[in-house]
Amino acid sequence: MRVLGIETSCDETGVAIYDEEKGLVANQLYTQIALHADYGGVVPELASRDHIRKTAPLIQTALAEANLKPEDIDGIAYTSGPGLVGALLVGSTIARSLAYAWNVPAIGVHHMEGHLLAPMLEDNPPEFPFVALLVSGGHTQLVRVDGVGQYVLLGESIDDAAGEAFDKTAKLLGLDYPGGAALARLAEKGDPKRFTFPRPMTDRPGLDFSFSGLKTFAANTITQAIKEEGELTEQTKADIAYAFQQAVVETLAIKCRRALKETGFKRLVIAGGVSANKQLRHDLAQLMQQLKGEVFYPQPQFCTDNGAMIAYTGFLRLKQGERQSLSIQVKPRWAMTELSAISQN
Ligand code: KG4
Ligand code: ZN
Repeated sequence: MRVLGIETSCDETGVAIYDEEKGLVANQLYTQIALHADYGGVVPELASRDHIRKTAPLIQTALAEANLKPEDIDGIAYTSGPGLVGALLVGSTIARSLAYAWNVPAIGVHHMEGHLLAPMLEDNPPEFPFVALLVSGGHTQLVRVDGVGQYVLLGESIDDAAGEAFDKTAKLLGLDYPGGAALARLAEKGDPKRFTFPRPMTDRPGLDFSFSGLKTFAANTITQAIKEEGELTEQTKADIAYAFQQAVVETLAIKCRRALKETGFKRLVIAGGVSANKQLRHDLAQLMQQLKGEVFYPQPQFCTDNGAMIAYTGFLRLKQGERQSLSIQVKPRWAMTELSAISQN
């Protein structure tokens, strides 16, 4: 079975083809980052319009990359939520229409399930069960994963997602949107001893997160530094970036340790844009070494939004016989726990 996957939930147009026998045979990505950079964030209407322009040509490029024709495709998977409603509608409409024209089944995929299953595309995929830490621009969640579609939400952010906190703090430091990766690069030059940021919600039990206070802490630290130094020097920016990143990473690690203890699991999966963060990978690798467990994550290109994770997740569900009706439905808000379990064989 070969499945074409289409991702348009936010500001990346991703198209990929997953082949049951060969694995991933095409992977195309068009990022709209430059389009939104001037506005300091994603402008939903511009995102939708650009997805309209880019999706069909990317599908043609993906077919050419895999040396396939439309009649070689057995099913189409598309992100139907969560995400920006207009952006989701573009991918869903194109996917559903193509499936109708090509006379193949279609399936709407949950974007976060796509992220969660992205490590399955690697050579050494994790076995079930495991704890997943999903850290993206829109979500921060700890999930108990007993199998595909068997998800129990253990904890989540009560305000900003980790990626959102990275981006907002990066903006305060004068970095372009989305500044998460740029902040991480800046942090490499930071002095670890200069500033200490709080580790929110780690002094009480539970697995929820709160990251909005860190952004405020960064803003206050910047104001104080300008008062003392007259301007924000490059070194001070790097020192703040370091302290912020360390606070996020340590907070995530503390909660991962708790979630592993609570479930008794020895495997940890990290996925979503922030899982590309080197410091986070380093600290979680250390944690899993201490716990004599293992950590899994996707290669960097599959941490952030991509079509491959949608093609793969759609493949699993289509193979199980799941189908989307002809109507085009998107779910801008959609809890992953509503998904149905699929059997593994
Ligand atoms: O998963 P993703 O591509 O999109 C969503 O589903 O939201 O995640 C994007 C987020 C952005 O907030 C971006 O700044 C962050 O992931 N990000 C990073 C890094 N690379 C991407 N944050 C910290 N360190 C990184 N290296
Ligand atoms: Zn995402």
